[in-house]
Amino acid sequence: MALQSLLTKIGCRSPSLEQLGHKYKCDKVTVHHYEDRYEQHLRPIRKDLRNILEIGVGGGNAPNSGGESLWMWQDYFPHARLYGLDIYDKHHLDNNRIHTFIIDQSNTDSLSEFARKHGPFDLIIDDGSHRGVDITAALRVLYPYLKDDCYYVIEDIQTSYWGDFGGSSIAYNVPETATNLLKHLIDIIHSGEMTCEDTPAKQTGWAVSELHVYHNIAFIKKTATVAPSRVLNQEYAAHQRMMDEKNNRGLEVANQHWGQDAVFRHDVLSKSCQNGG
Ligand SMILES: C[S@@+](CC[C@H](N)C(=O)[O-])C[C@H]1O[C@@H](n2cnc3c(N)ncnc32)[C@H](O)[C@@H]1O
Repeated sequence: MALQSLLTKIGCRSPSLEQLGHKYKCDKVTVHHYEDRYEQHLRPIRKDLRNILEIGVGGGNAPNSGGESLWMWQDYFPHARLYGLDIYDKHHLDNNRIHTFIIDQSNTDSLSEFARKHGPFDLIIDDGSHRGVDITAALRVLYPYLKDDCYYVIEDIQTSYWGDFGGSSIAYNVPETATNLLKHLIDIIHSGEMTCEDTPAKQTGWAVSELHVYHNIAFIKKTATVAPSRVLNQEYAAHQRMMDEKNNRGLEVANQHWGQDAVFRHDVLSKSCQNGG
């Protein structure tokens, strides 16, 4: 740490996220300690990112408050334009690189309109309401506006287990929460290995190449197309399908829960595509 500060001082190294987080008193660093995860995924590309969106500017309703993360990102990503969305007016933070908008992430029409106008994005961070239904709604709208090989980050996913946020520790597999959404993404990564077409994982049409889930924060990496199976040929797929029918037909009803989540329902997905998503 002392060496890092010295190198920064003499101009041999750009400031670490930890240094910037303390400089701007950003709770991503001072409270949540997400700095190592962001450094790990984003330091190598920080000079390449041009268009970044963060949901949740901070400070809530208090006048002239918030902006800690946008200031931190402004220094960390030297060439990026930064968009901040919040349910409260944060225009006092606007400058030539920071642009704030009053948008509720659960309002999918406003979010779509915003994304159509200002996307696609090189990085999207959801640090907004931390409610599962809102996280899911925002991901559904915004994922199509994330560029390929870029990250969608969801912070504070521990709220999936907390009642105030629509989560549960008692029935944690049931409500629409961030962690349940992330579990579905594991299936989406593997959808090329599935032997039938009518599975919710395939119906999303989404392609995910990587999912990194850490304590309280997740990084989702988008890819252009679903990876095809690396092992199935026609004959082997037919065999696996036959065994699956024999062992599991009738149990597929268990998939209905996630097939009916707002994010994965066919009607909602096709509506989002019609909207330009
Ligand atoms: C944890 S703070 C964001 C902190 C900021 N990203 C940082 O790291 O410094 C959460 C913010 O999300 C905003 N928020 C709450 N519900 C929201 C919603 N439905 N849509 C958009 N923003 C929301 C709150 O007003 C608050 O300012």
